[in-house]
Amino acid sequence: MTKAQIRSRIQALSAEIKRHNRLYYAEASPEIADYEYDLLVQELQDLQAKHPLPQALAVLDTVGIDLDKSAKTIPHKERMASLANAYSIQEVITWWDKISLELGEKPRLCLEPKIDGFGINLFYSTGKLQYATTRGDGSVGEDVSENFLTLPQIPRELSFQSDIEIRGEIYFPIKDFLAMNESRRQNEEKPFANPRNAAAGSIKLKDIKLVKARPLRAFFYTTGYIAGTAPFNSQDTLLRWLQDSGFPISDKHCVCKDKDSLIDFCTQMEEQRGELDYDIDGVVVKVDDLALHHRLGSTAKSPKWAIAYKFKPEEKETLLKGVDFQVGRTGAITPVAILEPVYISGTTVSRSTLHNFDEIRRLDIHEGDTLRLIKSGEIIPKILAVNLDKRPAGAQPISLPDTCPVCNSPLSREAEAAIEYCSSADCPAQLARSIEHFASRDAMDITGLGTSSVSRFLQEGIIASIADLYQIDYEKVKELERIGEKSAQNLQDAIEKSKDKNFDRVLFALGIRHVGTVTARNLTVHFQNIEALEAATAEELSEVPEVGDKIAESIADYFANPKNLSLVQELAKQGLKLSYESKQESETFAELSFLVTGSLSSISRKDMESLIISHGGKILSGVSKSLDYLILGEKPGSKLTKAEKLGTVKIINEDELLAMLEGTS
Ligand code: IVH
Repeated sequence: MTKAQIRSRIQALSAEIKRHNRLYYAEASPEIADYEYDLLVQELQDLQAKHPLPQALAVLDTVGIDLDKSAKTIPHKERMASLANAYSIQEVITWWDKISLELGEKPRLCLEPKIDGFGINLFYSTGKLQYATTRGDGSVGEDVSENFLTLPQIPRELSFQSDIEIRGEIYFPIKDFLAMNESRRQNEEKPFANPRNAAAGSIKLKDIKLVKARPLRAFFYTTGYIAGTAPFNSQDTLLRWLQDSGFPISDKHCVCKDKDSLIDFCTQMEEQRGELDYDIDGVVVKVDDLALHHRLGSTAKSPKWAIAYKFKPEEKETLLKGVDFQVGRTGAITPVAILEPVYISGTTVSRSTLHNFDEIRRLDIHEGDTLRLIKSGEIIPKILAVNLDKRPAGAQPISLPDTCPVCNSPLSREAEAAIEYCSSADCPAQLARSIEHFASRDAMDITGLGTSSVSRFLQEGIIASIADLYQIDYEKVKELERIGEKSAQNLQDAIEKSKDKNFDRVLFALGIRHVGTVTARNLTVHFQNIEALEAATAEELSEVPEVGDKIAESIADYFANPKNLSLVQELAKQGLKLSYESKQESETFAELSFLVTGSLSSISRKDMESLIISHGGKILSGVSKSLDYLILGEKPGSKLTKAEKLGTVKIINEDELLAMLEGTS
């Protein structure tokens, strides 16, 4: 890598890590697995070691911060450090050898499960519990005393009278978590991604009544600051002391002296992880003798006397109950595996996409098969393979339909793509999906019109097409069971408000195959109004940035269909915007093309794109030789790598772009 490439990779990684910190700590809603997060941090650390940049240092310093700026904070009396990670047992053994060499003896270890919860610090003075704080940034934590005291089994008093910090992990028992998520789903509230986020979210709730309804638990495993002499001298005796003092501790710990017992404990825990009522994500390996902790000391981030062995992503087996073939808006058929529900990495999985027919053939799935499953990124379930040993005798391969499962029309396959489409224009499933798409957030943003209401309205004859949305008889809606006057009014307001959406949103909402939000915007800028777009030949369409032959053909096909033309006419009659309202500010960016990757901090991505267009620039949807500028936001992903490879694209951040516009408007 050249220096410039390292710089931009450091920038990209820093932005990405910052974003994941926010998702994990502030919003309790992570998008990637800890393992992937650790890899990002590791990469940044490695680059930083070669090319120190203050920006990366600042990010590395904040790794693992859960502070809410508005909350009351209390400094920890001793830093709450984090642990170095090992991703194989061999790495743990290497660490053990290294510290043995340093100490001149092979120290005894104490092994415990690594609870995948939310770190907590308790402070006792004169034998009385004073407060409970979160880990925060390691130096300062958030005061969560009131919420914390809703947990059962927390000693308010200790016989130990000197100042002492007791540390552990709050967790959400899995059974309770599953039940809570189920009821959240029923109440149309967003379910938590996993028990750890549920624990983090619960302990920070502002309403104590809500906290009381959350059955939080905790395990304690270490101490922080202690005034005077500690009443224990090893990790093992510390755990016993905690237990004798009334703290809940994990009953799974063990002391080991040799390699074999270390390997046994780690493998056993990894095998047993699915059977516990709390999530664990590894084994914490500590030098047992506390006197040796002082001799080994710490690095800036973590103690040298401990290491966390992190498990591989959890893999489970489950039975295939059947395959559902779903019909999408464009007629694309997506096979979905229906599974015997199985708990894996934080949630119960009962469905998993199989993407397309080729994937079923590749995995060679048969009826009644047992499937191996992981969560990629610990979020999205993924079927890895079939366990052939468990295939029932005489099992038949999954039969793939050759007609649409909803309307029975023949299927067609797009050249070069692995996707089967229903060929009918009148397929009821396609109609339902297109209406859902039309109402979706990036399209007309009609809240209250989701999958269930669309299917209900179609069934009850309240609507039969997209255009009907603008002529709903709300008296009929109000009469529907479980839809009150208020919901009907909200829906009417949302539909009315959708008429203000710009031309590009309407065009995207039509759901033309391959026309995403960026292409829709480029088309509206280029053709200015629907009439010009309808009249355009495939050749003229290809002049628009980003529109290749495939997209041009798809657009031309769409407008060649009289049904679609009459839909557009109907929408125009209802007052939807079908021409481009230009707000041309300047020509600063004339002839220049841009692409935004990742999320920006001062302005939304859509607004940034509108801004560029209003100054004469073009937006592309992918990195290619014709791209002039890539604007780097947080979590840039593969576009950045591609642009770096090309070497012709200028990579800038949002401030640099805004600076280019200074003085123009
Ligand atoms: S001991 C110097 N023991 O893992 C840190 N930590 O990545 C001493 N954790 O911040 C921590 N289970 O929040 C320790 N049995 C255990 C643990 C444990 C979970 C968490 C804890 C810590 C983080 C380190």
